[in-house]
Amino acid sequence: MDAALGAQAFAGRQPPAVRAAAVRGDPGVRTYADLVGELVDRGLLAGRWRQVFEAVPRSEFVPAEVWRQLPDRCVSVVGADAWGALVNSDEPIVTQLDDGVVGGPGVATSSNSMPSMVARMLGLLDVENGVRVLEIGTGTGYVAALLCKRLGADLVHSVEVDPAVAELAADALARAGYRPHLRVGDGEQAWPGLGLVDRLIATCALRFVPHTLLRQVRPGGLVVAPLARDFWSGALVRLRVQGDGSAVGPFCGGATYMPMRSHRVPDLHEVRGRGRARAAGLDPARLLDRGFALFAGARLPGVRMVHQSVAGGGVRVWVTSEVGGASTASGEEVWQYGIGLLWEEIEQTWWEYESAGRPGAEEFGLTVTDRGQQVWLRDPGGIIGTGKGEYPRGV
Ligand SMILES: C[S@@+](CC[C@H](N)C(=O)[O-])C[C@H]1O[C@@H](n2cnc3c(N)ncnc32)[C@H](O)[C@@H]1O
Repeated sequence: MDAALGAQAFAGRQPPAVRAAAVRGDPGVRTYADLVGELVDRGLLAGRWRQVFEAVPRSEFVPAEVWRQLPDRCVSVVGADAWGALVNSDEPIVTQLDDGVVGGPGVATSSNSMPSMVARMLGLLDVENGVRVLEIGTGTGYVAALLCKRLGADLVHSVEVDPAVAELAADALARAGYRPHLRVGDGEQAWPGLGLVDRLIATCALRFVPHTLLRQVRPGGLVVAPLARDFWSGALVRLRVQGDGSAVGPFCGGATYMPMRSHRVPDLHEVRGRGRARAAGLDPARLLDRGFALFAGARLPGVRMVHQSVAGGGVRVWVTSEVGGASTASGEEVWQYGIGLLWEEIEQTWWEYESAGRPGAEEFGLTVTDRGQQVWLRDPGGIIGTGKGEYPRGV
């Protein structure tokens, strides 16, 4: 189908029919069965999740108007073939830009998440028959549908902050025959009258785990959420709620999700001043290690980092601090601006990370109490604080 015909076919809101249940392995055309098969081959669908994914076609939860997320922008997907290929791929599908406001900068604000990430998160949630689940971020309704298929709709609760997104999800769920408990509202606030759930899954990224979320989960229950801090591009955390209402658990790999609305922050702080150049004592590409990001995020609160690949290989990083310092580094050159010597602080933190044994991301964990959250290394007693020397030394 050419692009013009595809655009006509997409004039309505209903997505075109794709071969969701086609036999796996058809040459040339990737099907939903191929996608599920890939998740099985990667070991992401244990127990009953395989049958559940097979029974809930992703296409039923993806509207006609969608965008593909590229590293620097979202591009509109035009034509039924392109739409079907995206739906049957292991890619996130952007379903809303700029909170639905027309003419905005084109920032993704709702999506149907990457299937392998959905499978990983549902696996970490460790559901068994009879558990009550609360999802924060209904989005397209796909995760809610998977949970309904696995547990029965009456045990599934899902909250979405955006009324237009919530309405589309409710319609898609009803068309597919699922009627979970849905609420339009801010998932950071307690769901009135919900009572305690056994599992909570957030499908939008949190900057911190609000204690209000923990208070909705019974002691012994689990919280699975993507966290994104100033220094992190995103990591999953799996917390077990304790008898005293706190929660403790490990980081479980990377996860890039759009932030919870009230947890949005601008990319970088604004910093002014003349630049001072110096040689880099550290390849900036090393900073992109997730273990270092968790370590540095705890050691350097208020410091934000973003990065970009540069032509010919390598990366350029920008770091800024809330006190008004900045530096940018690529290859061997560093420029520092404003207050302080931020790059020196970054390098110092890198050497501390090295002397802690360069721990991998899975060696870090998080404790959340009603006073806030703390990152720890190797065991919950090994809090990584700010300042010097309180984290446990390496091997
Ligand atoms: C990645 S999408 C969720 C994907 C969804 N689970 C699915 O199956 O399609 C993130 C969603 O979180 C929603 N969201 C953001 N902040 C929220 C909040 N405070 N409370 C509830 N939902 C929120 C966004 O509007 C967006 O629809």
